[in-house]
Amino acid sequence: MLLAGAAAAQERTAGEIMKNVHVLRDVPASEWDETMAFMGNALGVDCRYCHIPDSFEKDDRKAKQTARVMIEMMRDLNRKTFAGRAEITSYGPKIRLLPCAAHSG
Ligand code: HEC
Repeated sequence: MLLAGAAAAQERTAGEIMKNVHVLRDVPASEWDETMAFMGNALGVDCRYCHIPDSFEKDDRKAKQTARVMIEMMRDLNRKTFAGRAEITSYGPKIRLLPCAAHSG
């Protein structure tokens, strides 16, 4: 228990260790790379689309600023419109497909 407690206490958030993080402050530091890779994969781009390599904290790429705005919009929508349910994700709205019987007979 003591060890587990110590490990939990050591887990820091991105807001604590990164230089210029505003909307994703609560992401655990250990999940940061995964979070960035997820965004890149969802959009089919790599890190350089939003960042100058080795200057990840800078806001000089328009795409990074746009991504920040998008993340805020997504959170806002989920909170206000969908009563806190994560209906909108960074890879688009969840779409429920109805079974299509048109070609089955
Ligand atoms: C779609 C745009 C986008 C892509 C692609 C992307 N990032 Fe980011 N990244 C952001 C945004 C937006 C922030 C700031 C988030 C915030 O303010 O909460 C950020 C912040 C960061 C930071 C924090 C820098 C600091 O100290 O403030 C690091 C490190 C980082 N990204 C690394 C990466 C890496 C590595 C990749 C590729 C695997 C990547 N990013 C891909 C948009 C992107």
